[in-house]
Amino acid sequence: MMRKMKSTIPCVFLALLVGMLLATTTATTGFNYGDALDKSLLFFEAQRSGKLPSTQQVTWRGDSGLQDGYSQGVDLVGGYYDAGDHVKFGLPMAFSLTMLSWGAIELRKEITELNQMGNTLWAIRWGTDYLMKAHPQPNVLWGQVGDGASDHYCWERAEDMTTSRSAYKLDANHPGSDLAGETAAALAAAAIAFKPYNSSYSNLLLVHAKQLFSFADTFRGLYDDSISCAKQFYTSSGYLDELLWAAAWLYQATNDEYYLKYAVDNAAGFGGTGWSVREFSWDNKYAGVQILLSKVLLEGKGGAYTNTLKQYQAKADYFACACLKKNGGYNVFTTPGGLLYVREWNNMQYASSAAFILAVYSDYLSAANAKITCPDGLIQPQDLLNFAKSQADYILGKNPKSMSYLVGYGPQYPTHVHHRGASIASIQVLHSTVGCVQGFDTWYYRPEGNPNVIYGALVGGPDKNDNFSDDRSDYEETEPTLSGSAPLIGLFSKLQGLNGISGNSYHASQPVVHQKPPTPPTAPVEFLHSITGTWSVAQTTYYRHKVIIKNTSQKPITELKLVIEKLSGPLWGLSSTNNVKNIYELPQWQKVLNPGSDCIFVYIQGGPQAVTTKTHAGGVDSGSSEREMVGAFWGTRVMEIVKKHDSGGLVWKRIKLTPTRKANAKKRLLRVWQNEAVLRACSEPTPSKTSGTGTDVAGEQDSKSS
Ligand SMILES: *[C@@H]1O[C@H](CO)[C@@H](O)[C@H](O)[C@H]1NC(C)=O
Ligand SMILES: *[C@@H]1O[C@H](CO)[C@@H](O)[C@H](O)[C@H]1NC(C)=O
Ligand SMILES: *[C@@H]1O[C@H](CO)[C@@H](O)[C@H](O)[C@H]1NC(C)=O
Repeated sequence: MMRKMKSTIPCVFLALLVGMLLATTTATTGFNYGDALDKSLLFFEAQRSGKLPSTQQVTWRGDSGLQDGYSQGVDLVGGYYDAGDHVKFGLPMAFSLTMLSWGAIELRKEITELNQMGNTLWAIRWGTDYLMKAHPQPNVLWGQVGDGASDHYCWERAEDMTTSRSAYKLDANHPGSDLAGETAAALAAAAIAFKPYNSSYSNLLLVHAKQLFSFADTFRGLYDDSISCAKQFYTSSGYLDELLWAAAWLYQATNDEYYLKYAVDNAAGFGGTGWSVREFSWDNKYAGVQILLSKVLLEGKGGAYTNTLKQYQAKADYFACACLKKNGGYNVFTTPGGLLYVREWNNMQYASSAAFILAVYSDYLSAANAKITCPDGLIQPQDLLNFAKSQADYILGKNPKSMSYLVGYGPQYPTHVHHRGASIASIQVLHSTVGCVQGFDTWYYRPEGNPNVIYGALVGGPDKNDNFSDDRSDYEETEPTLSGSAPLIGLFSKLQGLNGISGNSYHASQPVVHQKPPTPPTAPVEFLHSITGTWSVAQTTYYRHKVIIKNTSQKPITELKLVIEKLSGPLWGLSSTNNVKNIYELPQWQKVLNPGSDCIFVYIQGGPQAVTTKTHAGGVDSGSSEREMVGAFWGTRVMEIVKKHDSGGLVWKRIKLTPTRKANAKKRLLRVWQNEAVLRACSEPTPSKTSGTGTDVAGEQDSKSS
């Protein structure tokens, strides 16, 4: 299903001093959505790939990715980096452009009055220019540049990128109806947004949109079966929603009945009138389809299709009722502080997209003087707006942490954003290259806040208890994404429009840094892994791996054992045990790691063979401390460590669990296993698909398919 796992290096560190920022401005009643809008648009500038224009306002960024696609004979320069990394993932990028365009269409009046239409259209165009380049022939769509596995191996600025920029494409033999469908939707929506301002550009967008829809519909398949290295990051759960979504947008853009008929004829077969959903995201478009088709009905244009459109609207209502918790028990989950909560990785994106589409639905309903009958009562259009406002306000600081999750907005916002560019001093300031591993050592691990404030980044946000850790290594909570920010443009302009347009001027105040007391450690033992040297002898490359074990617990851990398998080179800093092969423990002279102290071991590993390491926390004398050990190992940290497998690092493969703890850990552990399996599918031989030939290596995909 919908899942996204992102990983970097196994860094587990504690920010000892969490910077707290206090702006000099005094708090006013309510939120300045105009300011939030202004900042949200800046985020799209920070994510730009390619040659930056002279009008670029985010000046800590420079040109990057200037050769994207060249080795494969296609110009793929431009577009947007996805998140804190530098992969250009087609599916979330296209979805974000659909969201930006939907905002520009429905909130045209507000955005124009806020004097932001120019910036909004630029944000769209930066992406749509790229998408059109990525679609050089009717049945060819380049769907990705860069791959997550190699990209995440490095922590470097986009301007310094040394990782693979291989591009991956869809064609008739490698279909991807979800990606092609979403791209068609994005270009059709953008065509509407641009129509009043540049009709030739709008027409061009529409030509591509129509061709892509036909490509998506004719050659059916999941895009991540064709572009397998997208699987680990943006797995698609299906493409039928995108086909309906593309048709719905093309109908809006063209008024051509063919597209409406397509959405109606396939309503049941594609799940459009069958799926009741409580999530709207880059993967699942059903709620968007249902709301957009409700618009046709509410505008009185249903005609012969009225019956089916009513069924679509019933599902749109289901989504609305669920978000407002009036759905007879089938409601969304919200945190105690009131934030819509779908899942732990980048949850904010679900809140921002639900808030946006319900704000839009509210407008469709009020224009038709309509309301919704939910299982638990009536909903007025105003109620939907109130929900949208509650999510926006939570984002901007009305939450138990009093934290703005929109970076750069308000007095307190995350300062350790998991973003390569923001966390490394700008190339305009530090005029030297920051290398792949050096970036981790010098910038990622440092406890200080990021040198660049990435204005408008909506971070992943708090957990289901409204807790938030402003920690660069906690990418589930501190990484921003395009998909999360894109719906904010429409959302904030709607809310500012309600407040009145005045009083939205944006002043970037110089923040004053204050220090908060150290936060207590959460994991008893932390591992920091890095590659500190590399050299080649004959055909073999050797890597020097350094691992720091740090005791961050307050409680006793009586025994710590590491299982290291397939070690081909020497290891220093640990003692091997006599009885069991491959098991290492702390050296004799350092049997106990005092709190705050650490122990370093180093090993050398040559060639492609990765080291596999298992850990056991054995002989623990109290139940609670073992549970913490387990927590430390099967949390997100494990995934990070697992991630290192393909680059010659460590894999913490198994954790000793007692049966009772197993049940609790199972879900999370499964994810770890799955993640590892998927990683292998992308970068190592996949027996199920390539019958063990071992040729399905990331980076070779294009040479095979082009
Ligand atoms: C309109 O779009 C075309 C590309 O289709 C572009 O060359 C032109 O500069 C645009 N005009 C304006 C006023 O932006
Ligand atoms: C998170 O929030 C809950 C409820 O407010 C609290 O009990 C807990 O201690 C917090 N911290 C962590 C690390 O879960
Ligand atoms: C970590 O520190 C605690 C507190 O002093 C101690 O009891 C425990 O044994 C230490 N753990 C290790 C692995 O040395």
